[in-house]
Amino acid sequence: MFDESGWNKEFKERFNHRYDELKWLYFSLYGEDYQALDWLTAAMWDYYSERKSSLKKLDRQREKNPDWYKGNGLLGMMMYSNLFGGNLQGVRSRLDYIKDCGVNYLHLMPLLDSPKGKDDGGYAVADFRKVKPELGTMKDLEELTEDCHNAGISVALDFVMNHTSEEHIWAKLARQGDMAARSRYFFYDNWDIPNQFERTMPEVFPTTAPGNFTWLDDCKQVVMTTFYPYQWDLNYGNCMVFNDMTANMMYLANRGIDVMRLDAVPYIWKQLGTNCRNLPQVHTIVRMMRIITEVVCPGVLLLGEVVMEPSKVVPYFGTVEKPECHILYNVTTMASTWNTIATRDVGLLKRQADQVAGLPKDYVFQNYLRCHDDIGWGLDYDWLKQFGIDQVAHKKYLNDYLTGRWYGSDSRGELYNDDPKLGDARLCGTTASLCGLEAALYEKDKAKEEKAIACILMLHAWLFTQSGIPVIYSGDEIGQLNDYTYKKDPEKWADSRYLHRGKFPWEKVEKKDPISMRIFNALRVMEKLRAEHAIFSGQAGVETMETGSRSVLGILRYLGMDQHLRAYFNFSEQTQHFWTMPDDEAERYVDLFSGKTMKELGDQLEPYGYRWYLEQPKAAEGSRSVRQMTA
Ligand code: GLC
Repeated sequence: MFDESGWNKEFKERFNHRYDELKWLYFSLYGEDYQALDWLTAAMWDYYSERKSSLKKLDRQREKNPDWYKGNGLLGMMMYSNLFGGNLQGVRSRLDYIKDCGVNYLHLMPLLDSPKGKDDGGYAVADFRKVKPELGTMKDLEELTEDCHNAGISVALDFVMNHTSEEHIWAKLARQGDMAARSRYFFYDNWDIPNQFERTMPEVFPTTAPGNFTWLDDCKQVVMTTFYPYQWDLNYGNCMVFNDMTANMMYLANRGIDVMRLDAVPYIWKQLGTNCRNLPQVHTIVRMMRIITEVVCPGVLLLGEVVMEPSKVVPYFGTVEKPECHILYNVTTMASTWNTIATRDVGLLKRQADQVAGLPKDYVFQNYLRCHDDIGWGLDYDWLKQFGIDQVAHKKYLNDYLTGRWYGSDSRGELYNDDPKLGDARLCGTTASLCGLEAALYEKDKAKEEKAIACILMLHAWLFTQSGIPVIYSGDEIGQLNDYTYKKDPEKWADSRYLHRGKFPWEKVEKKDPISMRIFNALRVMEKLRAEHAIFSGQAGVETMETGSRSVLGILRYLGMDQHLRAYFNFSEQTQHFWTMPDDEAERYVDLFSGKTMKELGDQLEPYGYRWYLEQPKAAEGSRSVRQMTA
């Protein structure tokens, strides 16, 4: 039994409140192993005690206001520290720019020690307690998180929990034959069991890293590697893996991380005869992690990286009584958005928006247009089938359009993991290049340039209209283009995700590049309006509206009886006519951007146009009747 004699009241209360459930869950996975559970309990107290008082203060504030991340006040940005600032101190010295962007939630891409050339963009961690030397030290990270907190910015970091790098100490020992270390991974003497696994396990990187196992010639063993061969899957069936990894998470939380991005979380439990994704045990583990953070560092949020079809995503929120993740990626809306750019048909996106709107308001999504990964075409093909749309042909069309191979398309994306067996390629590229800005600048075509800028802005307006936390991919706020230099780097050329992982173009900010400034300023206007108006909070109701145009998406947001926002987005490069209000209520709606009132019955949206019509409070009634009397 653990020794609680030294515990303080706060820890005791939090712990006692949750211990029964933790114990029950722990034993359901690992049997009645009191020794292992006591080890974990002692670690929880240790990390709680070493937590800085400033972080504990934040914990208490957030415990009192557990909905702190659910409103309309957060604006996120994700970035690679090296691309943005060179290293962690460089990011620190550029915090003013991040503040100028209005950002108060900063996701730093993986920055822990990982072997050069075999790092999967930092997702192959060799040491969870060491920063990549070229980026700095743990002290630098702590200084950065402290500066961020002082500036009101929360910091997110990846917790790469499914696997370690083959350079991690456990992996090195396992290679040398240490059986305890081997039991932390999935090791096999021959291919019998791996081959059985392969029958039901899909591939994550079918062309860049086919198969789910790797032969280790030096020790004559097969090891499970769902992602790259140098990323060895951890065996969470071993309680020491869970204990040690949880300790690593608490260690990072104590460095000042506010949001833990649980990387590739659906994959963490493996079972023969299954697809090894989203198994019930995954939810047990996430629930335990939630309980542990609520005891040790309750200010910390769990963000689940669940890049799966919608029915698989939502269960990661858990239930009201037993919550799991606080935030999840809204991957389907992201993919459906790019689908709509290619098809100019909002049908699927409208359906997707309706589905999200139907979920409990407490479910917080992280919304985004682009991130460091590819765009996978996980769309609702069962629904599309009724229109005669075939999955393989449709994906081919989307990829053709967004790579600019389709006649008339100015998109400049590149394929990612083109799998001819399944006809399933994914897509890379920055927002600006996908919207046609790169082609427009290359061709020096002013009309195309205008169209591309309009497209970029419309997409962001749509992003900011969604409930949840909008996260901008660093560089998108100034229209950063694709970066082709990765093709010359042997460590990167096989992975086209580097196309949208270019160095931040500081010269565009410093020289005030007119296009960049136009995008930046327009985004700031939207972001400020979003933060100012409660109608954008997660508590608002959301519905889609019929607009009379296949290319115009209409979103209604409402709070109470008399606060309404009617938003419209033209997803085509043609002017579109759309339906507005059918009666004289229309004139009560004023576009937040232009200040113009809505026209009755119908209006026009310019190519890639957008509107945010906010209903004016009834107090404006007086002026309305004056106008009517004089009319
Ligand atoms: C996540 C990351 C991706 C990485 C993978 C393996 O999906 O977003 O970039 O390749 O995990 O860790």
